[in-house]
Amino acid sequence: MAQNAIDPADGLLADVVGPWALEKHERLRKYVDSYRSARAMFLPPRGTGGAAYIELFSGPGRSQVEGIGNYIDGSPIVALRAAKKSGTKFSELHFNDLNPENVNALRQRITRLGSAGTFYNEPAATAVDRVIYALNPLGLHFAFLDPYNLESLPFSIIQKLATLNRMDMLIHVSIFDLQRNLRRYLSDGRILDSFMPGWRDAVDVNRGDQAVRTALLRHWLGLIKGLGTTPADGIELVSATGGQRLYWLVFVSAHPLGRKLWSDISNVNDQGRLL
Ligand SMILES: C[S@@+](CC[C@H](N)C(=O)[O-])C[C@H]1O[C@@H](n2cnc3c(N)ncnc32)[C@H](O)[C@@H]1O
Repeated sequence: MAQNAIDPADGLLADVVGPWALEKHERLRKYVDSYRSARAMFLPPRGTGGAAYIELFSGPGRSQVEGIGNYIDGSPIVALRAAKKSGTKFSELHFNDLNPENVNALRQRITRLGSAGTFYNEPAATAVDRVIYALNPLGLHFAFLDPYNLESLPFSIIQKLATLNRMDMLIHVSIFDLQRNLRRYLSDGRILDSFMPGWRDAVDVNRGDQAVRTALLRHWLGLIKGLGTTPADGIELVSATGGQRLYWLVFVSAHPLGRKLWSDISNVNDQGRLL
């Protein structure tokens, strides 16, 4: 279960995160800054399609760093501030979280920063439909997907987002539970069936754990690439801070900047193991 705290700076709910959250936010900041001129093409006076920012697992907007104790912005606020600083804001903000207290805290924080967003409080698997319905299909949009685990990110979510022509996605999935419970996940296959349909035919479960994880990541990447949203790339990485937590990081972008940006984003942590 996630731990909570109250941020003394604003009296609102915060979650408790490991120091690795800082690397994750640095990647997000890089994306938002690097894409400022691409975004501008879809915003007045140059364009009208819009440039929305989407999080389906938003958290409350502030976090306490475990072991250190200080408070940091959560990803929605990181993205909002980075966009303001870049001089090219997002035209819309869509935030969802399953926990109503997180949604409530985030709504207040976004309002206090003088911004407005649309907030949803439901499983990401259904919120995605409402978000897509609200988006202009001619825009350049960006979804930061940051679930705690594989279970909360059924592949259908990525599939639906990819139906929009210009939907960039930065997907950051903790596979800590997969690392610990790999054999259980493989024997009861339900979570993997939803997260990466077709894995049973693609992965030889008789190999060693690391080889199986690599094969699973390759299969998931293959599914994403199969959606036609190129370029897409991904890595498995270990947090630079503890050397313990394992993440899968995938970037999907239809924009020519995508390839160049991927190397910047993936190298925030140079302990990442490139496939
Ligand atoms: C890793 S945290 C998000 C942290 C945030 N991106 C940040 O960096 O500040 C994952 C969030 O997903 C939420 N969550 C868990 N299961 C969910 C689901 N099925 N649908 C939507 N949100 C979910 C949790 O309440 C939690 O706030």
